[in-house]
Amino acid sequence: MQEKLSIHGAWSNRWVFVMAATGSAVGLGNIWKFPYITGENGGGAFVLVYLVCILMVGIPIMVSEVLIGRRGRQSPINSMKDLAVESGLSPRWSLAGWVGALAGVMIFSFYSVVAGWVLYYVAGMANGDFIDIGSEMAGKRFEVLLADAETLLIWHSVFVVMVMTVVAGGVSKGLERATRIMMPALFVLLFILLAYSMTSGAFGQGFDFLFHFDPSQLTWNAVLIALGHSFFTLSLGMGSIMAYGSYMPKKASIGSTVMMIAVLDTLVALVAGLAIFPIVFANQLDPGAGPGLMFITLPVAFGQMPGGHIFGFLFFVLIAVAAWTSAISLMEPAAAWIVEKFGIKRVPACTALGALVWLLGIACLGSFNFMSDYKIGSMTFFDLMDFATANIMLPLGGLFIAIFAGWKIKRYALEDELSFKQNFWFSAWYFSIRYIAPVAVAAIFALNLYNKFT
Ligand code: PHE
Ligand code: NA
Repeated sequence: MQEKLSIHGAWSNRWVFVMAATGSAVGLGNIWKFPYITGENGGGAFVLVYLVCILMVGIPIMVSEVLIGRRGRQSPINSMKDLAVESGLSPRWSLAGWVGALAGVMIFSFYSVVAGWVLYYVAGMANGDFIDIGSEMAGKRFEVLLADAETLLIWHSVFVVMVMTVVAGGVSKGLERATRIMMPALFVLLFILLAYSMTSGAFGQGFDFLFHFDPSQLTWNAVLIALGHSFFTLSLGMGSIMAYGSYMPKKASIGSTVMMIAVLDTLVALVAGLAIFPIVFANQLDPGAGPGLMFITLPVAFGQMPGGHIFGFLFFVLIAVAAWTSAISLMEPAAAWIVEKFGIKRVPACTALGALVWLLGIACLGSFNFMSDYKIGSMTFFDLMDFATANIMLPLGGLFIAIFAGWKIKRYALEDELSFKQNFWFSAWYFSIRYIAPVAVAAIFALNLYNKFT
């Protein structure tokens, strides 16, 4: 019997799936966001909660997403719908796919602004602008950039076009080709930076900050942020991994590929933290500096290194690439759905989506200048896009997916799709997805709401 495939195409082999999904996972979430939210939330205790969330919630949900995608072989919205109907449930389960596609567009809008900062730094490094820069000047320079809406708009636009171009190329000629080139290089450069950081003098202090467990630093809000980040960093709860799973070969084992992706993503985040915090402490910078952390610490480090501007240039290129491969996966679920729904080609579908993201992105970049006084609650538009997606929509999407996979899909279908060699792994996954993951997400939500109103 011919294997059922997606109309959008398929990965050449399972390694391409691993690389593409790792490309989706490893991005600004690891190198930019993880260090700065760890810094804002006090370090070690936050990191521990984050690691527990990855293991107990993130990994089981990632398995479910790949499984649903591969069985549905369509965009997340339609895969969820068909699997629901096939299991005798309401087609309204596709709502989870809808929330996801929307979250993808929202994340993309602020992600693109940050990726734009990265591109600006690529240009600056190429220009030699950061040679010998001290921490004070580096901070100043970042501040000036944020105030300059025009420059931000240029780089944001460049990034949206870069992503649109790849997604418009389709699964093989766009997504697969882009993934194959840059992923290996990213890892090499990250370890070189780590080596530099180890010699910078304050490595021990940075290490301590990341791994010293001080529970007094922990609040329920920080736990919510750690949970949300575990979804964000693994690209879960919104359909990216589900869409990529729908292009995965049937023979490949889901369990082991997912483990590989999660381990790589976690390693990159920890290495990024180990690279950034020693520089923070060696230069008396503030670990709680917020979104600017990476943009201030890295130029300082590269500015002092012999030949650092070449290094810095390469490194920001690679962060840009990591952001690029992630943003591609942010766009793919909605793009695939538009193609299925309206029967149009990828190019018009991606152009329309890109235009939407571009507009939303303008409000995000304006949050740092012409719209900085415009607040929702205490949040700027940029903050709101980040908070609403990472801390609400992704965990909620994940909760739906866990309930769907754990309680709604028939057990034999799950066993068939997962084909774990040992019963133990199936049972472990099944227990996590039915009980641990949904209870953890629901409990953390409930506790935060409770704290808000008391
Ligand atoms: N996982 C990506 C990162 O860490 C961000 C992302 C989130 C990508 C959700 C796709 C979906 O940067
Ligand atoms: Na990530």
